[in-house]
Amino acid sequence: MRQRAEIRERQEENILKEETVIVLDFGGQYNQLIARRVRECNVYCEIMPYTASLEQIKAMEPKGIIFTGGPNSVYEASSPRCSKEVFGLGIPVLGICYGSQLMAHLLGGAVKTAPVSEYGHTEVEFDTSDVMFEGVSPKGICWMSHTDYIAEAPEGFCVTAHTQACPVAAMSCPERKLYATQFHPEVMHTQEGMRMLGNFVHKICGCKGNWKMDSFVQDSIQSLRQRIGGGKVLCALSGGVDSSVAAVLLSKAVGKQLTCVFVDHGLLRKDEGDEVEAIFGPNGSYELNFVRVNAQQRYYSKLKGIEEPEEKRKIIGAEFIRVFEEEARKIGKVDFLVQGTIYPDVIESGLGKSAVIKSHHNVGGLPDVVDFKEIIEPLRSLFKDEVRKAGLELGIPPHLVFRQPFPGPGLGVRIVGEVTEEKVKIVQEAVAIYREEIAKAGLDKELGQYFAALTNMRSVGVMGDFRTYDYAVALRAVSTSDFMTAEAAPIPWEVLRKVTNRIVNEVKGVNRVLYDCTGKPPGTIEFE
Ligand code: XMP
Repeated sequence: MRQRAEIRERQEENILKEETVIVLDFGGQYNQLIARRVRECNVYCEIMPYTASLEQIKAMEPKGIIFTGGPNSVYEASSPRCSKEVFGLGIPVLGICYGSQLMAHLLGGAVKTAPVSEYGHTEVEFDTSDVMFEGVSPKGICWMSHTDYIAEAPEGFCVTAHTQACPVAAMSCPERKLYATQFHPEVMHTQEGMRMLGNFVHKICGCKGNWKMDSFVQDSIQSLRQRIGGGKVLCALSGGVDSSVAAVLLSKAVGKQLTCVFVDHGLLRKDEGDEVEAIFGPNGSYELNFVRVNAQQRYYSKLKGIEEPEEKRKIIGAEFIRVFEEEARKIGKVDFLVQGTIYPDVIESGLGKSAVIKSHHNVGGLPDVVDFKEIIEPLRSLFKDEVRKAGLELGIPPHLVFRQPFPGPGLGVRIVGEVTEEKVKIVQEAVAIYREEIAKAGLDKELGQYFAALTNMRSVGVMGDFRTYDYAVALRAVSTSDFMTAEAAPIPWEVLRKVTNRIVNEVKGVNRVLYDCTGKPPGTIEFE
């Protein structure tokens, strides 16, 4: 709620309020993604819960309303609903996935369990005379994810798209400015999805599109100064892009009131601890206090015998906070704890009614008792590429800003099963080789993320004349812009062959190298 209030304050201060689109949240995975796509159309966008009253919605004077997806069925008694009167406000409404079914259901159409549910890339045909699909190719690919479907559009609606299994993949009633898509135009897998959302926002809602996000950094610095006052701030610096951008933002806002604690949890990439110290430490370029805690052995003993991914994440997260508490006590009274949480971390840890995918280290692992007055998460509403834009605005060097993201729990989520010091060494060496060869091949800038993970699988091999029984390393590389969805990247075979040769020859304990071809969804980027 605080976040929403802050956004509203910013909006009232300096953003053209005449053009707001509301995303009404019914608990789907892509709610912020929709909001962010609207922002990409240069239209201010705010998310409201589906429980918002008609009065609250009207008070925002929205140019348009977008209903999100959600995991429920509209015919369940407990499913999230809004008032039917929202369709009578004269404000354009776009329903997506569950939102489309809700629109159909509330307006007298028929929603049923689909005989064949569709998931993933799906061929679709559009009626391009409908404004929503103006300029879109008549046949294309859309991203589907549903078990129910609209079997019959409500009276007064035209069917404007269909797939083989879905008779109403989109529908519209232009007289009432009501539009709906069963598929997800906001997900990058839907070809020309941005054009469709652009058509809705500009042509149907009539937005001019003159909002820009360039004031984020200045606004944040100002509001952080106000909120923190003369208080002391402790920042959890992991060395990843997100916490680095958060740390620099805080250092610009409150300088030496900020202490960055960097926990070397023994789950970092090779030499990374020293690299982070070189950038943020006393010989680095930022005004802040820097503390490095070498807690490697403490983590290894806590993780001994733990195999379950969520348990590992929670232990790593909780231990992090304990180390911070100890540091905070040494520093004296600390008022605020800063974390580099970004939006995908929040949504995938479960927000509102969305399903929990993973509890992210910097969100889910907080123990009940935290020794700080408040937690500050200045990047909580941003996606990764927006964080990078903020980083550049802050003057952080591009090689840091475009560094590939590294998860808070580090190699702990790249080692399947129990974490041991020996396994950590194996992954560190394998990753170092992979990174070196990817950089040599000039591929590092094209890839969203690439790393080696240690599978928990050991298999038989032969080295020289001897039988081996060693681990398999999995190589992963993905292309993505927002880290919510990703495609496995096609690494040239020559590069893979070289990396494989080097890993099996140079890394003790590995006799097999595999390549992960899975996208996200259905995989996640990290292994655990
Ligand atoms: P997944 O594996 O969820 O990863 O597809 C999406 C992005 O988030 C990063 N990631 C994390 N970042 N704390 C973080 O700060 C975490 O616990 C965490 N887990 C995953 C991951 O590297 C990818 O960029």
